[in-house]
Order: sequence, then C-alpha cells, then structure tokens
Amino acid sequence: MNMRTISEDIFWLGAVDWDRRLFDSLIPLPDGTSYNAYLVKGNEKIALIDSVDPSMAKQLLAQLETVDIIDYVVAHHAEQDHSGTIPLVLDKYPMAKVITTPKGKDLLMFLLRIPEEKFIVVGDGEVISLGDKTLTFIHTPWVHWPETMVTWLEEDGILFSCDFFGSHIATNELYVRDKGRVYEAAKRYFAEIMMPFRAIIEKNIAKVKNLDIKLIAPSHGAIYDDPSFILDAYEDWVSSPPKNIVVIPYITMHGSTSLLVERLVSALTDRGVRVEQFNLADTDIGKLAMALVDAATIVIGTPTVLAGAHPNVVYAAYLANALRPKAKFASIIGSYGWGTKVIEQLSSMISNLKVEVIPPVLCKGLPTQSDFEDIDTLGKTIAKKHEEAGIL
Ligand code: FEO
Repeated sequence: MNMRTISEDIFWLGAVDWDRRLFDSLIPLPDGTSYNAYLVKGNEKIALIDSVDPSMAKQLLAQLETVDIIDYVVAHHAEQDHSGTIPLVLDKYPMAKVITTPKGKDLLMFLLRIPEEKFIVVGDGEVISLGDKTLTFIHTPWVHWPETMVTWLEEDGILFSCDFFGSHIATNELYVRDKGRVYEAAKRYFAEIMMPFRAIIEKNIAKVKNLDIKLIAPSHGAIYDDPSFILDAYEDWVSSPPKNIVVIPYITMHGSTSLLVERLVSALTDRGVRVEQFNLADTDIGKLAMALVDAATIVIGTPTVLAGAHPNVVYAAYLANALRPKAKFASIIGSYGWGTKVIEQLSSMISNLKVEVIPPVLCKGLPTQSDFEDIDTLGKTIAKKHEEAGIL
C-alpha cells in the first residue's frame, strides 16, 4: 500500500497484515492487523513515528523511497511489531536519532542491538520541535509494556498512541467507519494486553483526555476522527463497576460437567443474569478475555483428570488470573469419578483475583437431583450477591 495523506505534512505509512492469525504465538487475530507508522514533516525537521513488524519491512522501505531525510524516529514501544524495522530505517538514514523513554532505550538496545549513541531519551512531557510542529512526549507506561509513551502533536491536534487505543483489524479504511466492529476489536485488544494494568491505564487516560484531540492515530487499526468514541469506551472498561454477567469457561469429557453448566445457565437466566458460556474444547481466548472485562462472576467448570482440573481449564484459569479482571465473585463446578483435588488446585491458581468464593458444586459421575438442586442454589446465590453488591 502506498503512503497515505492525513494532512499536507502528515502521512500514514505502514502495512496491513491481512493474513496474520496469531500474535505473540498467543493472541488470536480473527481480523488480521495493521502496523501503522506516521511521517510528520516540520519545516525544519522530519520525524518518523514508529515502524512496522519486520515481516513487513519491505513495504515501509518502499514507502520511504521518496523520503530523503528523516531526523528522528519516535519509538513509542519496544515491541517488535512497531520497533522491529527501526534498524533498517537507521541504515537508510544514518543521521537519524531514535527518540524514546529511558526504559525504551534499554529495551531497544537489548532487543534490537541499536547502539547507545543513536538515542535521544525524553522525559515525561518533554518537547522536541520540528520547526512549525511540536512533538510532546507523554509517558504512558503499560500500554502495553512498562516503557511505552505516546506523542502529542499540538498544532494538528493528533495523538499518536501506538498500542494504546489500538485494534487488531486489517483494513484499508484510514479512519474508523464501522464503529461496532472497531469497538469489539479494540475491546478484545484492551482485554488481552491492558486489562491487568487498569489502575495505570486510568491514570494514562487522565493524562491525555483533556487535550484538544482531533485525531487519535494508533499503531494498529484505523485512525479515530471521533476520539471520544474510544476514550469513552476505555473509561468504561477501566473504571465502570462490573456488570450483571457470569462468565462460565468450562469443558466436559463425558457430559456430566456440561449438564451442570446447562442447569446453572438456566438458573441464572431465570433470575435475569446474563451468561457468557465458553466451551474450552474449542474457544477463542480473545472472546473469553473480552467477556472478562465486564463480568461480575466467574464460574469455572471442569471434570477431574488425573486428580486435577482438565488442562484446558488450567490454561483458562491461568489466563484469567494473569488478566486480573474486575470480577467480584467466583466459583467452581464439575465432576469426578473416584477422587478430586480440583477445588484446591484451581483456588490456588486464581490468587490474583480479588473475589469472594461462592461454595463450589462437584458431583460424582452423572449429576443427581441433589447436585442439580445445589446448582440451583449456586445460581440463586450468585444472583443475590449481584443484587446486594448493586450490580445491575
Ligand atoms: Fe503492538 Fe505491544 O505491540
């Protein structure tokens, strides 16, 4: 794709990765992604903002063929999908300096072996002039690593935000047009990489939301020309209390656990509680992560395998613990044949969650009428807990 014009002196560069289906060998990308870089031409200096994933280096270098000078390369984030082509950019423009945070410098030196003399390290709020354009660097840690920052271009009202506010969508639309699609992709992205750092993200939002922003230009997905759309969404995901939702990640081997899940879903539905049910035999962990953004309760369902939880459930519990969602309640349901330690095992795996544990329900073999009644009680208890906590 060719360079695209945002305004007279500001351009989109980068690559759309239509085919990528996995990020970090972990995160599903059902809609592909893009790696956005930007060129800002002041009347004295020229800055390239971020680069692209090394797999797409050729596309960026082709776009730069007509660009004779780059004075600065702004490295918002050291992760290679944005920084990985910086060494090739520096080869082409040997006089260019890399602008980054102190932690960014450290990471870029170790990850990409960029020599120390290439860096200009900027503090929070520091300004670098391009002549008639001014770049202000705002430190925004943990969006998504500890070294991350964003750049504010005051004269044009553009916030270059890198991963912050990004969405994994492959599209040739320069600006967000399908808000429903982008909302889902941005929420998925937030859930997968930023949810654990909600308190810090909240502070980062406060640092940028009062700027007079006309465009938010992230390094994944389209540009927001209605910044309040994504700012409001982030504020909701970060700060709003959990909603009247129960997330049930589960798996079943011979049907007993799925019978319990079915009964629980019915009990919750009767009481007006929304359910998000995920069969871990074949689930998109990004969807599960998204559901965890809003859920008030998590109920894990598992049969017993070699005395413990099913390995897919162990994986989901590990993930939920790492993502630290704002859920307030948790429980476990499941089945066993001759013995089980799933409660002890799973309870020890979710220590990061600040939840009240509601008594679990385990059945031996197929659930009996008494087991189903225990599940009904669990559903009733969850609904009551939500109501008492003011969760609607
Ligand atoms: Fe898009 Fe954290 O890299």
